[in-house]
Amino acid sequence: MGKAIEGSNFSLRDEIKAYWSARAATFDEQPGHEIFSEEERQAWQRFFTRHLGNGEGRKALDLASGTGVVSHLLDGIGFDVTGMDWAEPMLNLARAKAKRNGRPIRFVMGDAENTMEPDDSYDVITNRHLVWTLVDPKAAFIEWHRVLKPGGKVLVVDGDFVQLGFVARLTKRLSKFASRLGLARDAHHGAPTSEMAATHESILSRVYFSQGARAEAVADLLKQAGFDTVVIDTDMRAIHKAQRKNFSFFKGLERATQHRYAVVATKAK
Ligand SMILES: C[S@@+](CC[C@H](N)C(=O)[O-])C[C@H]1O[C@@H](n2cnc3c(N)ncnc32)[C@H](O)[C@@H]1O
Repeated sequence: MGKAIEGSNFSLRDEIKAYWSARAATFDEQPGHEIFSEEERQAWQRFFTRHLGNGEGRKALDLASGTGVVSHLLDGIGFDVTGMDWAEPMLNLARAKAKRNGRPIRFVMGDAENTMEPDDSYDVITNRHLVWTLVDPKAAFIEWHRVLKPGGKVLVVDGDFVQLGFVARLTKRLSKFASRLGLARDAHHGAPTSEMAATHESILSRVYFSQGARAEAVADLLKQAGFDTVVIDTDMRAIHKAQRKNFSFFKGLERATQHRYAVVATKAK
């Protein structure tokens, strides 16, 4: 497992923040980020309900909320949602979207590794595509355990984008090739520029999960952080099937063959 470089944590966190701030303007153009069909919305909502139950007014903290996609899904199944992100441009877009949709979701500036929220204050914590980029995931998981009410749940949605299996590697290559030939209809939708892609690679090589965030490793760290029951769910087929309609054939295949998963951890009562 890669370790963040000793003494460079502050600057690495700054780089991550700057990277996502720069990505904010086009983030929602990319399928896989924003939701482009009712089928996908329903697949995600069924997925969250399966693991967290209906919201029924319970308090949810959506960490690394970005433009608020997951926050809106949780709001849609009845949670009282606070989204937290540390990139101001992401927060601005999330607030504008909530206003446009007339939804009462709060979006606050904060660090997912040190939320400053009170002890035992949320029923659920969610995050999508955050854990792979955490500088100190163990500290973050201890923090999430502190902030959750007894019996509360954290739902991590993430993937390993480093260690790809044979099929995922092959489809990634084919997908890149199709993009270069202009054959992929998703080639330019909000995709990062090559400079941004290089920054992404550089950041990825220095975070804790530089060798890829495998579900089992995330689950182990959650247990070490004090969580009671920790369950891995790799069945995201309904979501990937719905997303495929907005991707080129190879891109859809690439996503479906990656190690993408949810980990659900419960704080003891
Ligand atoms: C890939 S985006 C995911 C956004 C959103 N969760 C989604 O799935 O649409 C990653 C987000 O994580 C945020 N982020 C990364 N590390 C963070 C941290 N330590 N604290 C707060 N936000 C963080 C970034 O600013 C960015 O908005």
